[in-house]
Amino acid sequence: MTTNRPVFLELWRIHLPVGGVVSILHRVSGVLMVLSVPVFAWLLAQALASPAGFAASAAFLSSPLVRLALLVLAWALLHHLLAGVRYLLIDLGLGVDRPTARRSAWTALTAALVVTLFVAGGMLL
Ligand code: HEM
Repeated sequence: MTTNRPVFLELWRIHLPVGGVVSILHRVSGVLMVLSVPVFAWLLAQALASPAGFAASAAFLSSPLVRLALLVLAWALLHHLLAGVRYLLIDLGLGVDRPTARRSAWTALTAALVVTLFVAGGMLL
C-alpha cells in the first residue's frame, strides 16, 4: 500500500512521552515484584524454621547489596501503586485529556522517586 503520509524517522528527535515512560516502568516494576515473591517466601520460610534460620534471613537482609535491592523494590511498589491507581482512574474516564494525563504521569513518576528517597533516608538511620 502506498500513502503520501510524511515519514519522520529522525530517531534522536523522537521522544517517548512521559506517559509512555510511566507505562514501561509500570510493567518493569510489576515484573520485578513478581520475581521477588519467591525470594521473600524462601526468606520467610527460613526465618520461621528455627532461631538460626531467623538469624540467617536477618543477616542476608542486612547486607548492603540486598538493602539496595530492597530500595529498588520499594521504588517498584511505589511506582506500580501510583501508576496503577492512575490507570484505574483513567479507566473510569478521569483525567483522560492530554494535559491532565501528562500532569498525572509526571506526578506518579516524581512522587514515587521522592518517597523512595525518604525510604532510603529511613534505611540509613
Ligand atoms: C499496590 C497496588 C497495586 C495496584 C494499584 C496495581 C495496579 C495494576 C494495574 C491497574 C495493572 C494493569 C495495567 C494495565 O492496564 O496495563 C497492573 C498490572 C500488573 N501488576 Fe499490579 N498493581 C498493584 C500491585 C501489584 C503487585 C504487588 C504486583 C506483583 C507482586 C503486581 C504485578 C503486576 C503485573 C506483573 C502487572 C502486568 C504488567 C504489564 O503487563 O504491564 N501488581 N497492576
